[in-house]
Amino acid sequence: MSKVVTLNEFIMDRQADFPFATGELSRILNDIAVASKIVSRDVRQAGLVDHILGAQGNTNIQGEEQQKLDVVADEQFIKAFEYGGEICGIASEENDDFVAFTSESAKNGKYVVLFDPLDGSSNIDVNVSIGTIFSIYRRISTVGTEATLEDMLQSGSEQVAAGYVLYGSSTMLVYTTGRGVNGFTLDPSIGEFCLSHRDMRMPETGRLYAMNEGNINICEEGLREYVAYCQSFENDKGAPYSGRYIGSLVADFHRNMIKGGIYIYPDTTTSPEGKLRLLYECNPLAFIAEQAGGIASTGRKRVMDLKPTRLHERVPFYIGSKQMVEKAMSLLK
Ligand code: AHG
Ligand code: MN
Ligand code: MN
Repeated sequence: MSKVVTLNEFIMDRQADFPFATGELSRILNDIAVASKIVSRDVRQAGLVDHILGAQGNTNIQGEEQQKLDVVADEQFIKAFEYGGEICGIASEENDDFVAFTSESAKNGKYVVLFDPLDGSSNIDVNVSIGTIFSIYRRISTVGTEATLEDMLQSGSEQVAAGYVLYGSSTMLVYTTGRGVNGFTLDPSIGEFCLSHRDMRMPETGRLYAMNEGNINICEEGLREYVAYCQSFENDKGAPYSGRYIGSLVADFHRNMIKGGIYIYPDTTTSPEGKLRLLYECNPLAFIAEQAGGIASTGRKRVMDLKPTRLHERVPFYIGSKQMVEKAMSLLK
């Protein structure tokens, strides 16, 4: 039997790989791991709290106002970052504006984190997988001052680390620091993330496509052609692909990472920019996809080359196995 490698051990072993190897990034990743264990626990208890332990409407058993799980997760991660000492500010999908931490130790932090605390919120109440997505950058503003908007609006290519946590049939944390992608599964009996997926590679091609096909009539012609290609006997596999759409980006992406596939959230006539958020969803998953041999595109441009102009900017998103994304892009005019 081989020895179990915990996330902490792995991070320590790899610390020297990191370009600014000072231990700070290791501490941030540890903070994320701790916060995600707490969120994982809350997610696992959500059904109990809502339906058995007596919560009524928005008030819990102690008469306290009960918060939505995505707000609980948001607060949990912000707390971890605020008191860790490495992070000077954050931006999150749940907050209209970014948050610059004001304590002296936080102002000396060299990094910012951008995150989607709970992705797949329509799945929270129906016991389907959800996730957390995060992206870490070096700050641009001067150390010792408060974080600025400029620190948050960096291109994806500037990310120093990114990852996601999937609260699925088990809880997994997957991350990259630009030297490949590694995945860890939470063993709840010992409370540790253990290395389970070493050096993950996304298959070059696959036969799974994920898209909300309810949007098929309001997306562009080239994408309709691609979906028809997926469904045809005349495609590269000689048989229709399988459609899979969980409606939690993290879960759809993770499945495609392992089995090979494409995930598409296009621009539509009703949402001309698409739905997914560049900073909290697209850039971090793009970094992971590329590190695993896949592609992330708006359909026309590499996602990580985009220069963000707004915190909550949305972009069309085509991500997954290299050959599949290339094929889809070739059909977009
Ligand atoms: P969030 O829950 O963070 O708002 O993100 C939901 C996203 C993504 O996870 C998912 O793939 C997509 O929205 C689903 O959208 P549709 O219901 O429009 O298909
Ligand atoms: Mn999301
Ligand atoms: Mn969310």
